[in-house]
Amino acid sequence: MSRAYNFSAGPAAIPDAVLDRIREDIPDWNGTGMSVMEVSHRSKEFVEVASKAEQDLRDLLSIPDDYSVLFPQGGASLQFSMVPLNLAAEGQVVDYCLTGSWSKKAIAEASKFCKVNVIADSSDQNFTYVPDENGWNRSEGAAYLHYCANETIAGVEFPFIPDAGDTVLVSDMSSTILSRPLDVSKFGVIYAGAQKNIGPAGITLVIVRKDLIGKAGMSTPSLLDYSVYDKSDSMSNTPPVFTWYVAGLVFEHLKGLGGLDAVAETNSRKAQKLYAAIDGSSFYSNPVREDCRSWMNVPFILGNPDLDSVFLEESLAAGLTNLKGHRSVGGMRASIYNAMPEAGIDALISFMQEFERTRA
Ligand SMILES: Cc1ncc(COP(=O)(O)O)c(C=O)c1O
Repeated sequence: MSRAYNFSAGPAAIPDAVLDRIREDIPDWNGTGMSVMEVSHRSKEFVEVASKAEQDLRDLLSIPDDYSVLFPQGGASLQFSMVPLNLAAEGQVVDYCLTGSWSKKAIAEASKFCKVNVIADSSDQNFTYVPDENGWNRSEGAAYLHYCANETIAGVEFPFIPDAGDTVLVSDMSSTILSRPLDVSKFGVIYAGAQKNIGPAGITLVIVRKDLIGKAGMSTPSLLDYSVYDKSDSMSNTPPVFTWYVAGLVFEHLKGLGGLDAVAETNSRKAQKLYAAIDGSSFYSNPVREDCRSWMNVPFILGNPDLDSVFLEESLAAGLTNLKGHRSVGGMRASIYNAMPEAGIDALISFMQEFERTRA
């Protein structure tokens, strides 16, 4: 059986070594005579998995002790609601950067609870850049400042961590978390859906500074309250044990690769290679301003959009899957998360060059 190079934006590729380990573990996990999907989340064996996963993540990101690591469900999308419900009083002003489709959704949700002030907006150029921080229209006394560090659809990544001053900084890092080292101490809350660099969908990572926990209003449903997850080690109800276990294997795998410095070096090389191939061609183009180009999601447009469907058909036949771009951008998008091997980038570039030579 041959594995495809999967360029999906999420659910995304999982490292081969992790898949091998899952295959080995399934029938008799940890000597229990059961698969991990069949054990109690309260069993000694699973509690050990959960705490090891948290410790490995803490090691990878050097998460300071005054931060809690929570694993709720509901994806990053539920954090669009949980963030305002936990960090702001009803009707309070909150600052949001509007830099793409995901921050737009976060703003729509927060607007149900708070008064959202859009402090930066790049919709004038179809979300292809990050507005200069000096021009942001910040509010006095905002409960927090929210931004999406990597807009998965347009392939735009913040080239800096915003300076929020005394305001709590919150970031949706769904499609960039674990792609490189990160200074967690600059943030109040970091959240990410699992299905890109963490593991299968079904679990959400929330890293939250401890002093921000316990501020949700009385009417906040328990499962939307950070303090409920914090007090119960994210097990106040049945968690998705399989997803959590796989996330733990991914964290262990990343540590084995040498941690996030090593991961970042590879990611940078992979992205530079692909952008260089796009920029060096007169047939492909990437619309994103150069300093904001994502390491993880690389959209590229074909010189002749009539060839899009042929490109997709032939790339699929060549074992390169899920390259179709989002309809709001058009063309193609290669999502090249941690689990995409460098050989996958080389294969994509060779395919693109051959396609250009024969079709353009
Ligand atoms: C940046 C970003 N935020 C939020 C989401 C939504 O995540 P979920 O499907 O886990 O709710 C996605 C999904 O792709 C995303 O890329």
